[in-house]
Amino acid sequence: MGPFEYRDHELHCEGVALAKIAEEVGTPVYVYSRGEIERAYRAFDAALEGIPHEICYAVKANSTLGVLGVLVQLGAGADIVSIGEMYRWLRAGGDPAHVVFSGVGKTETEMKTALGAGIGAFNVESGEELTVLDRVAQSAGKRARVSIRVNPDVDAETHPYISTGLKTNKFGVTMGEARELFRSAAKMRGIEVVGVDCHIGSQLTKTSPFTDAIARLVELVQQLAKDGVKLRHVDIGGGLGIDYGKGETIPTPAEYGMAVRTALKPLTSLGITLFTEPGRVLVGQAGALVTRVLYRKHNEAKHFTIVDAAMNDLMRPALYGSFHPIDPVENPDRPKITTDVVGPICETGDFFARDRSLPALEPGELVSIGACGAYGSAMASNYNTRPRAPEVLVSGSSFTVIRTRETYEQLVANERLG
Ligand code: LLP
Repeated sequence: MGPFEYRDHELHCEGVALAKIAEEVGTPVYVYSRGEIERAYRAFDAALEGIPHEICYAVKANSTLGVLGVLVQLGAGADIVSIGEMYRWLRAGGDPAHVVFSGVGKTETEMKTALGAGIGAFNVESGEELTVLDRVAQSAGKRARVSIRVNPDVDAETHPYISTGLKTNKFGVTMGEARELFRSAAKMRGIEVVGVDCHIGSQLTKTSPFTDAIARLVELVQQLAKDGVKLRHVDIGGGLGIDYGKGETIPTPAEYGMAVRTALKPLTSLGITLFTEPGRVLVGQAGALVTRVLYRKHNEAKHFTIVDAAMNDLMRPALYGSFHPIDPVENPDRPKITTDVVGPICETGDFFARDRSLPALEPGELVSIGACGAYGSAMASNYNTRPRAPEVLVSGSSFTVIRTRETYEQLVANERLG
């Protein structure tokens, strides 16, 4: 039973009818289940029980303050990729000491700000970045805690745009470079080496790429121990996939935990803490995008259902050809037709489903696009001057608007006639 289920033929999020939210807040609207975020976090945490670990939620997956607040309350740390994300995390009440800062292109200003806030660690991705961070830290009279991101060159077997652990990708340093870089980092006055890090990709549907990557990290940690470089943590990134209803089998957090535990065994005696950076698996299933059908049209080749949400609200289908489950909010048991579900934007890429078998949808009725909690609102834009959709957090039988719909005034607030 997921957080979104039918009660008397009406789709609910926890105890609230989606129709009620749409009526009060309008459409399109993102709806999240607090209970599902809590369940997912606890399941992930429980899967790593027995291994000293920190869960650094990947803020990029969903960075809305109201969602971050739930993760803060659960005791999560954060994986950030910009100072903007740190700002949000701190605004949500997050602890800077449990922040790791990833990304291949941190600016000096970002480094200074993060050092000033006292973040837990920088995930450094190149020799040049390390040199700059050393200089920035020394001139601030500080030492930056550093974990070096290695590129283990394993195939995550996911969409090429979200695969990051191959040597053809821009991320991390090669295994060959890593040992030397660690040794020189250990001598830098502005740097305190604390860990090693990798992230091989997102929406992984197998555990073997994780265990292959960990095996490489383990080997490196052991070599470094011999070199006299003692690490405190191993960060294996995020990446565990979720079920988008397409029929894939996804490892459960428990299966993932088991695989990780086995792969890390050789390091037990070194007293290492495991860091993880999950995003999608914590928030993905908790969200839906609720939209209203505007029109239908058909020709000899196709049937189209045109809804009021568009690719600016949810980019994943347009960008990756991703599959999201789609359900009518009322009366799901109707004869089905094959249709494309599309938005109002002037691009052929503006679709949510193609040739999908769905109950024949009527103008005016509501539709729920599922598994939108991760990389939905966070990737939304104002393309076609469409205000970003409001977001609602449901808890039991009540809901809170955690972000209101943008106004046209806000859209032009920073602009001037030239
Ligand atoms: N850590 C790092 C360094 C990352 O780059 C990412 C995601 C994560 C953690 C979290 O990965 P997750 O657990 O969510 O798989 N927009 C794409 C996903 C891009 C992921 C980028 N990095 C999508 O909609 O599928």
